[in-house]
Amino acid sequence: MAVRTVVIPAAGMGTRFLPATRVTPKELLPIYDTPAIQFVIDEATAAGIERVIIVTSRSKPSIEAYASSASTANVAVSVVYQDSPLGLGHAISCARNAVGQEPFAVMLPDEIMGDSSLMKSLIALYDRTGTSSIGLKKVPMSEVSSYGNVEIAGRTDVSPSESAVAINRVIEKPKPSEAVSDLVIIGRYVLTPNVFDHLATIKPSLNGEFQLTDALALLANENQLVGIVSDITRYDTGTPMGLLRAVIEIALGRNDIGPQLNSWLKEKFNK
Ligand code: UTP
Repeated sequence: MAVRTVVIPAAGMGTRFLPATRVTPKELLPIYDTPAIQFVIDEATAAGIERVIIVTSRSKPSIEAYASSASTANVAVSVVYQDSPLGLGHAISCARNAVGQEPFAVMLPDEIMGDSSLMKSLIALYDRTGTSSIGLKKVPMSEVSSYGNVEIAGRTDVSPSESAVAINRVIEKPKPSEAVSDLVIIGRYVLTPNVFDHLATIKPSLNGEFQLTDALALLANENQLVGIVSDITRYDTGTPMGLLRAVIEIALGRNDIGPQLNSWLKEKFNK
């Protein structure tokens, strides 16, 4: 079945952006002049997605307001609610009825990609295998403990910048001594609808949140998880410094404002 739907979880508290997130949700903070979530909607549309379901919170009404004007001829945007911020896994399960019995993408709006290539490759890998497919990136071993970490079973190059892998183990934020590889999960996924059954069985982690990674670990145990290792440009906009870097780099790459920003930066640093 074709992947036509994406779930974008946007019901988190955004505590790392306080005080800004007292009034403006993290997902609407601008990358120069465009809310972060719009980059993700555009990436999804470029990958052929037709239906965007944003999981939001009743305490973030501006997300619903933004969604109400975000549909286009190519994509229909709607919202569902997560009543309390019980974690990413719980947020995804709130979209169960809206998604229905079909494969769907998940895209985290606090990770912005340089283009839609990874999303397209994940959809193509799902089309070939019928198996849940997740985005992966190689990082220095010192950074593995900040992410979900995977052990892989086989690897096939699919392009100069991507390889497809089978995943046989997933560990959430391992201690350095327990890391199983230098490959980590990044915020792009294509999931089969049985992940909702797994999400319904997992227990909360020590911080009380239901982790999507725990459901992915169950899929890996059943040999039902594959991935694309990609060297795509990725901005982690979940922290203020990450957002600032994304704003500067993305603005520098734009034809309308890039040259002006570039000459201002040169002037500033040559003083
Ligand atoms: P994060 O953990 O990065 O977002 O979740 P957060 O919880 O808002 O951030 P901090 O730690 O308080 O600063 C990744 C994505 O999942 C969503 C967030 O909105 C974000 O887009 N999320 C997270 C939910 O929708 N619900 C949750 O319960 C948790």
